[in-house]
Amino acid sequence: MSVYILAIESSCDDTSAAVIQDRKILANFIANQAIHKDFGGVVPELASRAHQQNIIPVIHKALANANISKKQLNAVAFTNGPGLLGSLLVGASFAKTFSLGLGIPLIPVNHMEAHILAHFIEDARQQEPPSFPFLCLTVSGGHTQVMLVKDYFDMELIGQTIDDAAGETFDKAAKIMGLPYPGGPLIDQYAAKGDSRAFRFPYPSVPGLDFSFSGLKTSILYFLRDRLKEDPDFIEKNKYDLSASIQHTIVGILMKQLKKASRETGIRQIAIAGGVSANSGLRQALLDEQEKGDWKVFIPPFEYCTDNAAMIAITGYFKYLKKDFSSLDISPFTRY
Ligand code: KG4
Ligand code: ZN
Repeated sequence: MSVYILAIESSCDDTSAAVIQDRKILANFIANQAIHKDFGGVVPELASRAHQQNIIPVIHKALANANISKKQLNAVAFTNGPGLLGSLLVGASFAKTFSLGLGIPLIPVNHMEAHILAHFIEDARQQEPPSFPFLCLTVSGGHTQVMLVKDYFDMELIGQTIDDAAGETFDKAAKIMGLPYPGGPLIDQYAAKGDSRAFRFPYPSVPGLDFSFSGLKTSILYFLRDRLKEDPDFIEKNKYDLSASIQHTIVGILMKQLKKASRETGIRQIAIAGGVSANSGLRQALLDEQEKGDWKVFIPPFEYCTDNAAMIAITGYFKYLKKDFSSLDISPFTRY
């Protein structure tokens, strides 16, 4: 008998609902919140309000598209953290009500574990999942971490950013260049037309397997401040080369630590997750390593990289198999 789960993701600024049948996604919808563009970043109060407006329509759409009635659902899974508290509360409250109303189990899901377990979604566009153990670089707007994944729910954090996240660095660099939020995808597009060696930015020296991006952000800021004094049109004239050089540096920092993690653990199955895994420079750098015969890399389809409920659904499915359910008094957490 198949297991059907409704999953909800509302940790940041995207409201998403998915329906899974065992490991197959039947529907996965995301309502993006355009409102934050005007503010150059996610405004928590606006995000939670928009989740309230979006959650019912998104869930209706997911159920209708999956052609599933509420009565067929075996459980409801939701993101319990980390994330913005007000945003998480919307998804959590909805999931609790749904669980209570239908008399089905409630499954809280860790957003960061879910990014990693997205590799296990059964999808024609997705390669066979990695076998255990593997390393996963999770890079998003809020996180940069390398996890040693020993089993579905046995993960060891072996490296993480000590300041900014990789996606945050893309977005802040874009903001300094006057590009709209979120700037990561735009830097990626511009980088394709530029010379990645046109400008050099320093690499941080961080002990162990951790990452640091705040020095890069500051050096971009000072570099552009000085160049703009000489030529007010410097950014506009050099936006492609600047984007390519910034992307090259961020990817270089990520790859340096990832290679070190692989050397130190002896693990050569490397997966990526999180919004920044959509970045073409990062994807290429990983594929280059695979080409050299050093690694086997796992890159999920784009819609499973950025925040989405499909990853909550697959994680919920594995928890369902373990009967890892929660009572209604559970409350969201904001930090990993
Ligand atoms: O995982 P995600 O959707 O949300 C968070 O949990 O943060 O990641 C969003 C982040 C943003 O910082 C965005 O700029 C970045 O991922 N991003 C990219 C690209 N696509 C999304 N960064 C660089 N290149 C891209 N193509
Ligand atoms: Zn995320």
